[in-house]
Amino acid sequence: MADFSLQLSASISVSVANSVGTIRLTNPDRHNALSQADWLAIPKAVVKITEAEARVIILYGEGRSFCAGADISEFDVVRKDPATARVYETANSEAFRAVREAPIPVLAAVDGYCLGGGFGLAAASDLRLATPRAVFGVPAARLGLAYPVDAMGDIVSAVGTQAAKRLLFTANRITADEAITIGFVGELVAEEALLNAANEMAATIASLAPLTHRATKATIAALSNGDLEGARALGDATFDSADYAEGRAAFREKRNPSFNGR
Ligand code: COA
Repeated sequence: MADFSLQLSASISVSVANSVGTIRLTNPDRHNALSQADWLAIPKAVVKITEAEARVIILYGEGRSFCAGADISEFDVVRKDPATARVYETANSEAFRAVREAPIPVLAAVDGYCLGGGFGLAAASDLRLATPRAVFGVPAARLGLAYPVDAMGDIVSAVGTQAAKRLLFTANRITADEAITIGFVGELVAEEALLNAANEMAATIASLAPLTHRATKATIAALSNGDLEGARALGDATFDSADYAEGRAAFREKRNPSFNGR
């Protein structure tokens, strides 16, 4: 399918180029704080990217920060009591779910602040790159609200119970080095090189077998969500695929494989 670029909401744009989908957070003046409408746009962005048959997604925040979380300025209206909060949480959870359950790998490229819902988005992603000046935190207890259960699941999966409790109970921010230490971030890259590094990693992922990636993602998720049968079915499908034949032929012929996801 053709490459494209679309603005889906005030702060969410989506594009696909060379089999790489990018979801950009486009409100740099407010550290890419996301409104309810922006959360609702994220699942749509993932659908657009997968419909275009992209093989990997980069999540990126424009300007000085990845994402300072939910837009607190609208909470007095859209998250003011349990009833409105439930609607809000649904939009929030659906955004995290779309990232977590995207059938292709999602790579978060993090510079600056990565807080609250921004941390949740990074936690729902499969891979995280960050700059040395990136700062991470989950200040729910500073605001006096609770995070959605599934978002907490992502955080615990990404950093473990002890670090999750430390982040939540203290509301303290941690540095990029500490984020590396707790395993939240895989690699640090200089600010000016972040997007290039993300695109390079994305290009590597996109060049490899999509069905293998899909089975890998589902299998790792199955270790916590229990869907072992679903993961096994995706694994089995690889053995039936043209790409597996292509992988073996490329090995025999001493050339790079060319995969088409079928
Ligand atoms: N919601 C709404 N607006 C936000 C925001 C958020 N989560 N994060 C930043 N902004 C706004 C600021 O209010 C400010 O707006 P203004 O220019 O109209 O005053 C603008 O973005 C710039 O932020 P500012 O606070 O001036 O920048 P800073 O560099 O001093 O601090 C942060 C940046 C991110 C540390 C600080 O803004 C902050 O703590 N934000 C809230 C983070 C948070 O609690 N997130 C969890 C939400 S559930």
